[in-house]
Amino acid sequence: MEASIFRFRYATNLLFEEDFSYAINPGYRPGYPVPQLEETDQHLLISTEQLRCVVNKSNLKITMLDRDYHILCEDEKGFHWEVHPQFGTDIVQTSKKVQEEEAFFGLGDKAADQNLKSQRFTNWGTDTYGFGKKSDPLYKNINFYYGYHHEKAYGIFMDNSFRSFFDFGSERADVCSFWADGGEMNYYFIGGPALMDVALRYALLTGTPEMPPLWALGYQQCKWSYYPEANVREITSKLREYKIPCDAIYLDIDYMDGFRCFTWDKEKFPDPKKMIADFADDGFKTMVIIDPGIKIDFDYSVFTEALEKGYFCRRSDGAYAQGKVWPEDCLFPDFTRADVREWWSTLFEGLIKDQGVAGVWNDMNEPALFEVESKTMHLDVRHDYDNHPCSHRKGHNVYGMQMARATLAGVKSFAGDKRPLVITRSGYSGFQRFSSTWTGDNVATWEHLEIAHLQCQRLAISGVSFSGSDVGGFTEQPSGELYARWVALAAFHPFFRTHSSGDHGDQEPWSFGEEYMDYARVFINLRYRLLPYFYTCFFQHHRFGLPMLRPMLFNEGVSNQKFVDRSDECMLGDHLLFCPVLKEGAQSRSVLLPEGDWFDYWTNKKYSGGKSYKISAPLDRIPLFVKAGAAIPHFPLMQYVGETRVEELKLQVYYAQGEHQSKLYADANDGYAYQKQQFRWSEFLLKANDDRSSFEQSLTGDFEPEYAQIRIEFIGFPQQPDTVEVDGHVLEAHSMEGQNIFFVNVNSAFKKILLLHRF
Ligand code: NOJ
Repeated sequence: MEASIFRFRYATNLLFEEDFSYAINPGYRPGYPVPQLEETDQHLLISTEQLRCVVNKSNLKITMLDRDYHILCEDEKGFHWEVHPQFGTDIVQTSKKVQEEEAFFGLGDKAADQNLKSQRFTNWGTDTYGFGKKSDPLYKNINFYYGYHHEKAYGIFMDNSFRSFFDFGSERADVCSFWADGGEMNYYFIGGPALMDVALRYALLTGTPEMPPLWALGYQQCKWSYYPEANVREITSKLREYKIPCDAIYLDIDYMDGFRCFTWDKEKFPDPKKMIADFADDGFKTMVIIDPGIKIDFDYSVFTEALEKGYFCRRSDGAYAQGKVWPEDCLFPDFTRADVREWWSTLFEGLIKDQGVAGVWNDMNEPALFEVESKTMHLDVRHDYDNHPCSHRKGHNVYGMQMARATLAGVKSFAGDKRPLVITRSGYSGFQRFSSTWTGDNVATWEHLEIAHLQCQRLAISGVSFSGSDVGGFTEQPSGELYARWVALAAFHPFFRTHSSGDHGDQEPWSFGEEYMDYARVFINLRYRLLPYFYTCFFQHHRFGLPMLRPMLFNEGVSNQKFVDRSDECMLGDHLLFCPVLKEGAQSRSVLLPEGDWFDYWTNKKYSGGKSYKISAPLDRIPLFVKAGAAIPHFPLMQYVGETRVEELKLQVYYAQGEHQSKLYADANDGYAYQKQQFRWSEFLLKANDDRSSFEQSLTGDFEPEYAQIRIEFIGFPQQPDTVEVDGHVLEAHSMEGQNIFFVNVNSAFKKILLLHRF
């Protein structure tokens, strides 16, 4: 327990399980404040500075209130259980009353609309090729949701890895319940009052990732599959030839020898080391896929070694848990064993250290099996669960996460001082500490464009910011228009990768003709210019737990209740609002701007929020707004991270009266020195008045960025100043022809800029 987080555990037979969790961040240290206790005949009242918990002594029902006695959440039946008819274990369940006008958010990768009300969901990681809005379960298992009513929020995280269920008033309109097929009822109640407070506390509980290398925030190109080598080389050359910025090229399963993980098909790729080095010279990082299924083959050392050492999962009667995946018959390492994870991590030496692969893509790790109705392992398969032996019923939902954990450890141990990139398809709550993710096998339809937008926002508020969709759709073929709109949207999603099954035609930015390539390039270029902004958002996520993408109600000052059910507008970080065009043929769309002033990023036109506007959106535009008062950093255009030295950063400062803060993070873009103060964290403060404005910077950290200079563009200020004083020196401000913009060039470590007007 701490002031804003209460933990509830229930035992059905007076025996609690050993307290063990894969979800909770090992670095999490609860505060354990001394609560205030009051007792009456019927009730026990436990109060902290933030929350009050009333326990009914006769039936143990719980009511959670804020300090002012507003009810946040109250038990209906509360905790109860029944015996599982098939397994004889407990099904543990908690039911709560749905509060008046209560909305529900969160739950990871669900493809449903933002507000989950009136629906039921299952968490049981499943390979769902070509899923749709109603498909459930999907790939990920994130047992965390938000309740929101009367403009107050709370969160519930049920830390139980058995197959679990969440019913938000679907069975009975006034009851919200969650349950799991086994284990203990163990949930965290997280107080707000704001939705963002809950998001931050959930991040505190389940952790955040380390900083990725900057290149991982660039554009990435993938297909199932690029081979042989000549074909991959053609793709990388064309990206450069057509000036489509790109940082990573992916090799899907066909690079392997007969789908044997950690091998190469030497016919298709005779000299991987040379190829990868050539790509690196051209600014491409090479990413390769690694699946969990290990081919049964006595001439294959990964298989024989794991067999000898007893690392493969077995059924309860001792037989190996065999299943079919790409290489046909496979066995599966038990990633819930520490020694297996350690062994797995040693396998990356060849790929990473010898051949120069930069990062690894973990797929099929729900785990997915072919030719069985369940699509996964038999439920009686045994897992170690780090010394808490159990069946697949408990191990299934954490399997992918533990694989990603072992993969990350492996890549890190051979990558020297380079930061790794790992991407996983499946994961349990907290997997964001180990890996980025994508939303799986989506479809090239307009509906899926919307689903991608919903899923990435939902993942972000469920602790997983570093996510993206297969741009253009994995199955089927997008039109040029759909592809261009998808690139426009995905340019704002933290993980930005085109991927497709390759069955329906090509899906590279040039595959739809020059016109559409030009549109795609506009957004990829924009992404590269905004890299310092993305990097800052990532740092805010890594350090403070802030989601990179924020549905509108998660932002300070936004209270318009229309945003409960409306998910088109979305914030990236503190200051950029983007709103994708989701309709075929549209040339404009309506955008609901929240309270406050906003600048159109493209035209610099100012809008007052609190209402909807029809915004022009031809194919080379996505409605994009900057919050007035913000400072948005830009890099010069580059074709890949590190192509040239960044000599100058551009900071666009948008006028707003009063005081406004912005942040900027910079470090070496790779390596671990940032963990030893080798970063620069700038906090900018704009103080704006009609006659006197200032723009200040306060710096933390010991790092000196490449750019010695910042060009600061002041946009939308009521008038150009007569004098600009930078740290006591008078400088000339230049105005930009025909635009209400003036700029100064200053040392990147400036402290204070004064803009003075004579009357
Ligand atoms: C399924 C994955 O979801 C997809 O992205 C990948 O291309 C195929 N497996 C083949 O590896």
